[in-house]
Amino acid sequence: MSENGVNKGRRRLLTATTAVVGAAGAGLAALPFIQSWQPSAKAKVVGAPVEFNLEPIEPGQLLKGQWRGKTIGILRRTPAMLETLPELQDKLRDPDSSEATQQPAYAANESRAIKPEYLVLVMNCTHLGCVPELRPEVGAQPFDEDWLGGFYCPCHKSKFDLAGRVYAGVPAQLNLQVPPYLYKDDRTLVVGLDPQAAA
Ligand code: FES
Repeated sequence: MSENGVNKGRRRLLTATTAVVGAAGAGLAALPFIQSWQPSAKAKVVGAPVEFNLEPIEPGQLLKGQWRGKTIGILRRTPAMLETLPELQDKLRDPDSSEATQQPAYAANESRAIKPEYLVLVMNCTHLGCVPELRPEVGAQPFDEDWLGGFYCPCHKSKFDLAGRVYAGVPAQLNLQVPPYLYKDDRTLVVGLDPQAAA
């Protein structure tokens, strides 16, 4: 398949994804993200691990919640979204996740995740802490004419790909952080615990 064909295919897939998200969003305010339930008051105080139910997240959709006063985002990536990751190596500041502070060792891989389908991020921009927007659309954007989808911080125009890896030449210098997390079961993800804690 030509590169064009691939790109068109991806575009079609993402368009379909957006449509599904839009339809699902009838009860979810037609936004590309949904809000998780809030942690209990006790969990907020002690910074306890927080469970997230993955079931409501549609492909392409971002679930947002809170952990230790930070905004957590869980993005359910489509196969088309995952296909973009190897294409951006040359545009990224730390494409191989070599900065150890920005993810646990088990997320220092190409998808920056335990399971590639679910990306888990601390959503605070590594520049000055704003919350970047999920911009999943593929194609020319006011801030990038070759945009393949990712996160865009409107405060000072930092850009991150669909694994939270920062672009070179923007104010933010570090990839978005991946917090410690584990899968309690196929549908439940716990932020704040490492996998060995479940062993
Ligand atoms: S806070 Fe995101 S670019 Fe400055």
